[in-house]
Amino acid sequence: MRRLSRKKALNLVKELDAFPKVPESYVETSASGGTVSLIAFTAMALLAFFEFFVYRDTWMSYEYEVDKDFTSKLRINIDVTVAMRCQFVGADVLDLAETMVASDGLQYEPVVFELTPQQRIWHRTLLLIQNRLREEHALQDVLFKSLLKGGPTALPPREVDPNQSPNACRIHGHLYVNKVAGNFHITVGKAIPHPRGHAHLAALVSHETYNFSHRIDHLSFGEEIPGVINPLDGTEKVCTDHNQMFQYFITIVPTKLKTYKISAETHQYSVTERERVINHAAGSHGVSGIFMKYDISSLMVTVTEQHMPLWQFLVRLCGIIGGIFSTTGMLHGLVGFCVDIVCCRLKLGVYKPKEVGILDGHSSQTPLLTDTNEQE
Ligand SMILES: *[C@@H]1O[C@H](CO)[C@@H](O)[C@H](O)[C@H]1NC(C)=O
Repeated sequence: MRRLSRKKALNLVKELDAFPKVPESYVETSASGGTVSLIAFTAMALLAFFEFFVYRDTWMSYEYEVDKDFTSKLRINIDVTVAMRCQFVGADVLDLAETMVASDGLQYEPVVFELTPQQRIWHRTLLLIQNRLREEHALQDVLFKSLLKGGPTALPPREVDPNQSPNACRIHGHLYVNKVAGNFHITVGKAIPHPRGHAHLAALVSHETYNFSHRIDHLSFGEEIPGVINPLDGTEKVCTDHNQMFQYFITIVPTKLKTYKISAETHQYSVTERERVINHAAGSHGVSGIFMKYDISSLMVTVTEQHMPLWQFLVRLCGIIGGIFSTTGMLHGLVGFCVDIVCCRLKLGVYKPKEVGILDGHSSQTPLLTDTNEQE
């Protein structure tokens, strides 16, 4: 019994065979068929080859969601050079809760404001990249992918010691602030906290020494990742007036970055800037200095590097090979059919008006009429 049913099953499977087995002697080969096969195989090989590159390639996908993390601290990484002596300037952060954040993380380093020729070249290159980044957003993806490969975006150190005494102050380091909107600023005088906020001791500094020309070599939020170029990196402002106020309005977007090399929680930001001369007599009030007002977006972006899965690659490969195979087969048949018709007609030289007339949907009378006309 068992053997019988097994045989039956085998027969059933045999009947399901979709691949016809034509005896070798029945298969006719032709030159045209050979050519078409050659073209088809070449096309298959080429497309499969290119498909492999598509498979190897990765792309970035962006997802947006509401940022639910409201307890963690925000890290601000900063590297700004101001064209004033270190003892005259102070930098600190005030957040929305009006609490002064300890700015112990910042170092004040006396430097020379002017860059050396090498540093100039580097700076110009950075600005060039910044310009391109603003125009072509796809470049950002490339940067994300090559993060760790990219060199540091910090200004290279001076190659020779300056021959002039330091005239500027480089303020660099990092701060941890609450994850609320705030204001990072650099103004005249060191900050001293007092119960309702804080004040800067500016009385001792003469207005003649005010010069808020500055260069932002680095400003980022969150984890510092080598290779990322932030919107303000490389910004340089030289002012002609002593009392000038520079404002940067920054919107921070929390960004989770997941590439094949790196997984980091960082922040991107967008910025608008404004600058004006403080002149109390002309009604332009304010405090001269550099103010960076930041706010944190409630949306979080997740940037993930994606890759075509292997199964998808295989399916696409099958599609290419099978598709080209059957399509060229059909085309070959069609072309052969057309050629046959044309050749037969030419060979026989017989034009069958009646048939064509019917096919074209014309009245079958017309050919007869022309016939009669020809006879006349
Ligand atoms: C401020 O310093 C920069 C760089 O040293 C200089 O080019 C600029 O003229 C100075 N501005 C004023 C108002 O002194």
